[in-house]
Amino acid sequence: MTQDELKQLVAAEAAAYVNAHVPEGSVIGVGTGTTANCFIDAIASVKSRYRGAVSSSVASSARLQAHGFKVLELNEIESLPVYVDGADEIDPHGAMIKGGGGALTREKIVASVADVFLCIADESKRVGVLGTFPLPVEVIPMARTAIGRRIAALGAVPVLRVQQDGLPFVTDNGNEIIDVKGLKIADPLALEVELNAWPGVVTVGLFAARGANLCLLGTSSGVETITYAR
Ligand code: A5P
Repeated sequence: MTQDELKQLVAAEAAAYVNAHVPEGSVIGVGTGTTANCFIDAIASVKSRYRGAVSSSVASSARLQAHGFKVLELNEIESLPVYVDGADEIDPHGAMIKGGGGALTREKIVASVADVFLCIADESKRVGVLGTFPLPVEVIPMARTAIGRRIAALGAVPVLRVQQDGLPFVTDNGNEIIDVKGLKIADPLALEVELNAWPGVVTVGLFAARGANLCLLGTSSGVETITYAR
């Protein structure tokens, strides 16, 4: 199977999981990226089962609305039984690198409210140790250079994310992203805590404090269901 087919496979499984476990009339949390897009498409046929969705990006909100889904603000809801999203890497403990699509801040906020974080990914995302995928860090633009120096002092390489026209990529929140190369993240929680404390860091794309509860991983031999102790 191709990577796209694996994404569609796990998205269909995730939709079946949500339909089976989430009570009718609930609001569901929806992530961002190509795998999350497949999930939106897969769950759209039963949208009337749900009160609506909270989304982690402008792009996912637009896709949900195009399917006729009601998109609610996180401030309007009290609870979220599930948050479904992809990952750039996931380790054996359910810690993830996220933010390849630039939506890490809203992803982390929505995930923090959800009872269950359901990660959907193809097997290329499974790693033993996080860090081969550059770690996205959303920063306040005026802090970009100062944070870059601190990253270099860790022995890693900070790379400002740019768009095709060469200008800095700007997040839905009006900030910039530094992609950190050259890390081998043996202790994701410790690094998340350390980088979170740096002035100017908005969000670090490490999801260790709030990792996945469950992962549906698309492999060549079918969908593997992995649960993590939390
Ligand atoms: C978006 O900011 C990311 O966190 C995505 O969830 C992550 O990059 C996975 O994206 P794909 O499903 O497109 O690989």
